[in-house]
Amino acid sequence: METFKNPSEPTGEYKEMLVRLMTRQIYAETATAEVFGRAISAAPNWQEKELAAEFAAEEARHSRGLYDLLTDLGEDPEEIIAGRPDAEKFWGLDLDNWLDIAVFNFTVDRAGSHQIMEYRESSYLPWGASQEEVLEDEEDHYDNGVENLKQFAKDPAQLAAFQEVYDRVMPNALKRAFGRLEGADNDFCLEHGLKRNTTEAIVNRYLNEMHSHMVGTGLVFPPMSAFEAINCELADSTREILKSLQR
Ligand SMILES: [Fe+2]
Ligand SMILES: [Fe+2]
Repeated sequence: METFKNPSEPTGEYKEMLVRLMTRQIYAETATAEVFGRAISAAPNWQEKELAAEFAAEEARHSRGLYDLLTDLGEDPEEIIAGRPDAEKFWGLDLDNWLDIAVFNFTVDRAGSHQIMEYRESSYLPWGASQEEVLEDEEDHYDNGVENLKQFAKDPAQLAAFQEVYDRVMPNALKRAFGRLEGADNDFCLEHGLKRNTTEAIVNRYLNEMHSHMVGTGLVFPPMSAFEAINCELADSTREILKSLQR
């Protein structure tokens, strides 16, 4: 399989797909930076505010990485970012609500990480190389998300509130972060090393990880109806994972 070392090398359909995937990531990174920016105000105590400020800075750094990569490819990142819906709408969150942010941290940010795990091995080498550090930051974000869930899970009323937001946010995250299950675009990405695994395999890897942290907390996967309501495509193998921890 062909790999590309310099920004001048990608051309044609490959470059188009590369820019599309990078656009998806810079959308996610910039929208997430804005979520954590708002989280500084919404968090209930200083310790969480401090973490939110740290995470906002890290997401801004991830955004900068993509910004520079896109610039090197001759694209205009400002124009690209300006095309993204508002962060709140993009993730379907209420950013004045700390609970929404806690669910985001456990759910949405991690879905993005599983996509980045694919990009780390990209045939476009400058992108792949830059994602190692990004994934290290993301580990901390997820640890905090898991910690948030454990805090909420201690109190049945809080857990029920967490579940309600999760039922809304998780299906949306699945749809937004992973995209379509099949199709020519997926095949192209696999053939050219822009991704290493099928969408089905990536989604399942993510859900199995979520499952491992949910077991014992009382949190369960959203009902199938929540996925159907937004036309979120699910493979049979994915349904099995969801069904194994549903009410
Ligand atoms: Fe990030
Ligand atoms: Fe993150």
